[in-house]
Amino acid sequence: MGIDSEKTFDAAIIGGGVIGCAIAWRLAQAGLRSCIIERGKIGAEASSAAGGMLAPLAEADQQDAFFDLAVSSRAIYQGLATELRALTGFDVEYRTEGTLFLALTADDEEELEKRYKWQCAAGLRVEFMSFSKVRELEPLISEKTRWALKFPDDHQVNNRHLLVAIEAAARAAGVVVFENTAAASLIIERSRIRGVLTGGGEIQATSVVVAAGSWSSLVPGAPSAATMAVSPVRGQMIALKAPDPAPNFVIYSGRGYLVPRLGGFLISGSTTEQAGYQKSVTAGGLASIVENAVEIMPAVRSLSIIETWAGLRPTTPDGWPVIGADPEIAGLFYATGHYRNGILLAPVTAEIIRDLILTGVTSLDLAPFSVTRFANRLAVG
Ligand code: GLY
Repeated sequence: MGIDSEKTFDAAIIGGGVIGCAIAWRLAQAGLRSCIIERGKIGAEASSAAGGMLAPLAEADQQDAFFDLAVSSRAIYQGLATELRALTGFDVEYRTEGTLFLALTADDEEELEKRYKWQCAAGLRVEFMSFSKVRELEPLISEKTRWALKFPDDHQVNNRHLLVAIEAAARAAGVVVFENTAAASLIIERSRIRGVLTGGGEIQATSVVVAAGSWSSLVPGAPSAATMAVSPVRGQMIALKAPDPAPNFVIYSGRGYLVPRLGGFLISGSTTEQAGYQKSVTAGGLASIVENAVEIMPAVRSLSIIETWAGLRPTTPDGWPVIGADPEIAGLFYATGHYRNGILLAPVTAEIIRDLILTGVTSLDLAPFSVTRFANRLAVG
């Protein structure tokens, strides 16, 4: 659709990844005329490169604001999957078998013991599993496994299906999508957002949300965002033909993970690389993924490779996302820097931004995710 014919909105979302699409959809459901401004194709960057693990417990060493945010998003996922199916007919393959984390070395044991203790003390569901017990669940895991933790509430979703479903739901709700349209700058007049200047012309909007993942800091805009510094961290991935029997659980080690997908695939990742905006898949990257996957499950060595890819995770100086309103520019919001957790955090981020735009408030304390926290750090440091 050309911009000239449709250029005045209640809300314009810069970025058509899972976060931007979910926000635009929730706003449209609430009756706002919303659009997505996407520099490439919807969902083509980190959202489709991800592994789809919804595993806040498996990865958390402490209870903090980030953990609470992640757990609250996980809690609304099943409802989201049901809603998307009802609205669009798409199955996002929300799977509830749970996540296993293998202790393969003495260091792993030490790490996982700590995780087990704090999570038990906090009343969270985590189960200790002996080697024989975990081998009953997953017969192909390595014999070097000493023991494992099972996180029954850490689930998974097929992130590529999720993107297709959310995009369909958003379009059906009336969201206008501008693909291949880069945001050149924010239009700000007298400390109020007026819209977005794009390669295709001006889009006027009462509210604008920066949800452009790794590209978020490249949109010239508000002074308070100058220290936000969202930057890309490359993650390479590999999809294999699943072994027989196919694993049922998401399986982590301290160095890699295996994610079983319906249709006979096994996804494995990932690298964590500073490579700028280069999305190359490298021999060294693949070698390290395969080494870590084989450590978990030696049978991986003989599996056929179906696909390889790389994505750019958007990270911030402290690794936490930026979610909330700009303190100086009325109508400007941020929903970016979700790093390794964009798929997990999309539902709660969308609800927060929707509530902020509609009512000016949200039930969650957003101070830990504020856009100004980096400036404060510089001032203190
Ligand atoms: N979310 C998985 C990863 O970043 O590798």
